[in-house]
Amino acid sequence: MNRYKFPENFLWGGAIAANQSEGAYLEGGKGLTHVDLLPTGKKRWEISLGNIDQLTPVEGEFYPSHTGINFYHHYKEDIKLFAEMGFKTLRLSIAWARIFPNGDDATPNEAGLQYYDAIFDELIKYGIEPVVTMTHFDIPVNLIEKYGSWRNRRLVYLFENYAKTILERYKEKVKYWVTFNEINMLLHLPFIGGGLVLQEGDNKTQIKYQAAHHQLVASALAVKACHEINPKAKIGCMLAAGTTYPYTCNPDDMFNAMEKDRENFFFIDVQSRGSYPSYATRFLKENEIQIAMEPTDEELLKNNTVDFIGFSYYASRTTSTDPEILKNTTSGNVFGSIENPYLKKSEWGWTIDPLGLRITANQLYDRYQKPLFVVENGLGAVDKLTAEGEIHDDYRIDYIKRHIEAMGEAIEDGVQIIGYTSWAPIDIISASTGEMKKRYGYIYVDKDNEGNGTLKRLRKKSFYWYKKVIQSNGENLD
Ligand code: BG6
Repeated sequence: MNRYKFPENFLWGGAIAANQSEGAYLEGGKGLTHVDLLPTGKKRWEISLGNIDQLTPVEGEFYPSHTGINFYHHYKEDIKLFAEMGFKTLRLSIAWARIFPNGDDATPNEAGLQYYDAIFDELIKYGIEPVVTMTHFDIPVNLIEKYGSWRNRRLVYLFENYAKTILERYKEKVKYWVTFNEINMLLHLPFIGGGLVLQEGDNKTQIKYQAAHHQLVASALAVKACHEINPKAKIGCMLAAGTTYPYTCNPDDMFNAMEKDRENFFFIDVQSRGSYPSYATRFLKENEIQIAMEPTDEELLKNNTVDFIGFSYYASRTTSTDPEILKNTTSGNVFGSIENPYLKKSEWGWTIDPLGLRITANQLYDRYQKPLFVVENGLGAVDKLTAEGEIHDDYRIDYIKRHIEAMGEAIEDGVQIIGYTSWAPIDIISASTGEMKKRYGYIYVDKDNEGNGTLKRLRKKSFYWYKKVIQSNGENLD
């Protein structure tokens, strides 16, 4: 037993995304989504960056989102397993293209709406609160072809229409909403985050910030609609978080770390405080970026700020201004970072830093003074099946345990945290690599990187452990 006291009604659970779990990529009238164009292999990264213009699947390449883990057909079985673990909540996303297959259709696709009705009913049956992300790396491909995606203001209104449709349809079933998953990803992986395909000679920074403005306005419109349609619902933003440490106490390194953090805070500053931060004004001016805005945008952003700050935390980052030190790069949720000599890394090179979660949570709470929601945190690792068909994932238990402890400390620090949904409670495909073998789940799914397997679900050791954690409201982490 530990000494951490989590609030009553703390939302314990897990988080998944439509494109990484559902599969059935063209079933039920769904349209093609931009992540359906991400194959496995080296090309995936270049497409994610927006460097390759490939808007139709290519014969012979493997697209893992097309089949996912077939949550589309297995959702009853999977939700039953989440219920067995005692989940209070499940964070999941709606695939925009299931509701509006082309993104700009005049009427929504009833089959898509019914599919999510069935999912929410199933969750509610077990007393599991759905937390719904409106868009988790999900853009109908037609919107990229026709309008150039988020660089075009048209997307703002199409998204608003989509948001209003789902808010209205599910107002009796969903009380927690998240607008854009990891909204700051747009700057780092412009295709994944914003459906942006960038050509040689494009002013990339200009395009990215214009697209960012559109997403921020769209997010504010969704907040407005949510508050009007269901005043009792709560709607939040979602940041790919992880504080940046300076490699040394050289003020140059310190300033650099501050700037790196601000690059990401920029989005949440607008979504939570309601206006462009002063440092952004200087940045935009010095980089000669002109953001086209409508006269009503400022007021809209001001009056429609989020109710809570959702964030993912996998790792902290480290930065330096020394070119020699900068050579020691490591990966980590796509943000380039250099190696932190004090910390260990996962098999995929992601820094493991539980204290960084406490620091990040404190930083966010100091900055925004709004409830926080840890909507993603977890360890991607290779799991081995024993001859008896068991998975002894003590490394995962250790990772999650230490992060829950850090969250407990942050709560002791006075930070208000309303929930924790670990990524991902069941093995799903990796967003960055498309692999199945990068597993996060408490539930094992029999499927390999090439798409072979029975899809059978198996409880890992961590399954029983997390069940105890939830049962004891975070008091029993042993
Ligand atoms: C977050 C995303 O960036 O990290 C998820 O919101 C993603 O979609 C998760 O799956 C873990 O990353 P990866 O690349 O290991 O799947």
